[in-house]
Amino acid sequence: MKTKKFEGKNGSSLIYLDESVSNLDSYLTADKNIIITDRNVGKLYSSSFPDAEIIEIEPGEKSKNLRTVEHIYERFLDCEIDRHSFVIGIGGGVVCDIAGFAASTYMRGMGFAFVPTTLLAQVDASIGGKNGVNFKGYKNIIGTIDQPDFVLMDHKFFETLPMKEVQNGFAEVIKSAAIYSKDLFRFLEDNQETVPDLESKAIKRIIGETVDIKLQIVSKDEFEEGERRKLNFGHTFGHAIEKNSSYTHGEAVSMGMVMAVDISVSRGLLPPADAERLKRVIKNYGLPHKIDMDTEQLRDAIRKDKKRTGDMVKFVFLKDIGDGVIMDIPLSEF
Ligand SMILES: NC(=O)c1ccc[n+]([C@@H]2O[C@H](COP(=O)([O-])OP(=O)(O)OC[C@H]3O[C@@H](n4cnc5c(N)ncnc54)[C@H](O)[C@@H]3O)[C@@H](O)[C@H]2O)c1
Ligand SMILES: [Zn+2]
Repeated sequence: MKTKKFEGKNGSSLIYLDESVSNLDSYLTADKNIIITDRNVGKLYSSSFPDAEIIEIEPGEKSKNLRTVEHIYERFLDCEIDRHSFVIGIGGGVVCDIAGFAASTYMRGMGFAFVPTTLLAQVDASIGGKNGVNFKGYKNIIGTIDQPDFVLMDHKFFETLPMKEVQNGFAEVIKSAAIYSKDLFRFLEDNQETVPDLESKAIKRIIGETVDIKLQIVSKDEFEEGERRKLNFGHTFGHAIEKNSSYTHGEAVSMGMVMAVDISVSRGLLPPADAERLKRVIKNYGLPHKIDMDTEQLRDAIRKDKKRTGDMVKFVFLKDIGDGVIMDIPLSEF
């Protein structure tokens, strides 16, 4: 097992890589623990959870709202949870975001931890301390930045992960490599045969390095005033596509990355050969490398999606593989 440490302004986090959920018990020190999970994860894995009250929410993004949080607060009251109790979110990004939000707001904040069970949650959602819910159609618009006491990662969970969830995770891995690490990007290129099956040793390296990238970015900019925005690479268009189509998050972000590198090339920032490298990796990890959406429809979707931020968009371009740059672009330019 490897441990990484993150020092945030609102507390620090320990990240246990390659640990087993069966050891979770040994990290718990509070008198009372309460687990938040979703129905799918509960059904598959509750037999390996430590002894604690369990709150099960409905799986999926549709649960990520204040109604679910209210239900959780009610259960906290029923279970006589107080400030000294400890919350553990065991599940994908939805569970981590909700559990972190509920724990950091109930009684002005209690201790919490995550056991992320999807690839996306291990490399992205469980790291960096952003916890939030959706409201009135806006994603993650209500939330906190508060670090979990620890994050425990176990590869065992991938055995049951559906392929589309694996691909969602890889879209974020590719994103992180593209903006921050030439080495990881090359590793993804060199190992595309073995990596996607998630059994290989390669996946451990990929998770470790992607977590490192996020930790490095978040240590420079915990509250997203600059550097952290690079993690939105592919997401400006991606969110607009996701909202207006049936594409998954990973598929939409992949198309968003393709658009971002095409614009990077047309602005003379990125050599065309590097844009092709990114598209090839996206394709080889089973994600869409071409935009399959009507231009007018897309323009409309971006306009709607960005309404609340005014006319300027902070857009992430690539100027090299492993080097993302943030620029202010007027919406009209798209
Ligand atoms: N806080 C952050 O910094 C951050 C970063 C990235 C994404 N997110 C959020 O993460 C969410 C997406 O996370 P996600 O992709 O993990 O989605 P998810 O939590 O909805 O999980 C996807 C599906 O997989 C199921 N599942 C989870 N683990 C499983 C397992 N081991 N085996 C079988 N099925 C399993 C879940 O029940 C669900 O149906 C979004 O809401 C996004 O906004 C947050
Ligand atoms: Zn994403």
